[in-house]
Amino acid sequence: MGPAELGDPVARARALAGTEQAAELYGAWAGTYDDDVFGRLGFTGSARIAELLIEHLANPTAPVLDLGCGTGAVGRRLAELGATTVDGVDLSPEMLEVARRTGTYRRLAVQDLTVAELDLGGPYAATISAGTFTSGHVGPSVVPGLLVAVEPGGLIAWVIGAVVWSGFEAALAPFGLDVLHRAVEPIRCDGPPEAVMYVARTPD
Ligand SMILES: C[S@@+](CC[C@H](N)C(=O)[O-])C[C@H]1O[C@@H](n2cnc3c(N)ncnc32)[C@H](O)[C@@H]1O
Repeated sequence: MGPAELGDPVARARALAGTEQAAELYGAWAGTYDDDVFGRLGFTGSARIAELLIEHLANPTAPVLDLGCGTGAVGRRLAELGATTVDGVDLSPEMLEVARRTGTYRRLAVQDLTVAELDLGGPYAATISAGTFTSGHVGPSVVPGLLVAVEPGGLIAWVIGAVVWSGFEAALAPFGLDVLHRAVEPIRCDGPPEAVMYVARTPD
């Protein structure tokens, strides 16, 4: 599948049914993703969540893990804001190859976030994510496995699609997080509010 066969890739992405389809779509989209998503379509959520994390991250050299980092938009903005130690994981090797060329990540690895017995390493001072927790992507069942990678008193800064928010809210509730920011906001220029910007601190 080449770019010409992608049709409306955002609509296709939000209708994905499983990791095989996700790997195929993002593998084909990697070369034109940045032009489409940040150029033509004006998505802003990746930069916004990076800015929110930096507001709350006391030490910019502390290690941060970008979940579903894709081509590296979050890492690029974090680097502009002074973060120095950002790792990234993603399902798609092709997306990761674009991220690698940004030069802003310390380590990048292929990782399916939905596997049982997920081991993300760490502990990290924070995990961050944009565009990965939405319909057709990664659902709330992963939450406990993702929180294991965060140090006590660490941060999560996640963009969570409004359509999947209730499931994430329920999955996060048992962990006693201190919520620092939670608001439904636009994720593209002139777009409607369509995702929850969620920043919270894990218990000490
Ligand atoms: C909309 S893109 C967002 C990429 C990037 N975070 C950004 O802000 O542009 C969603 C990303 O989630 C990744 N993804 C989808 N399913 C995944 C899974 N099961 N495990 C890990 N990554 C996944 C895709 O490969 C893709 O790079």
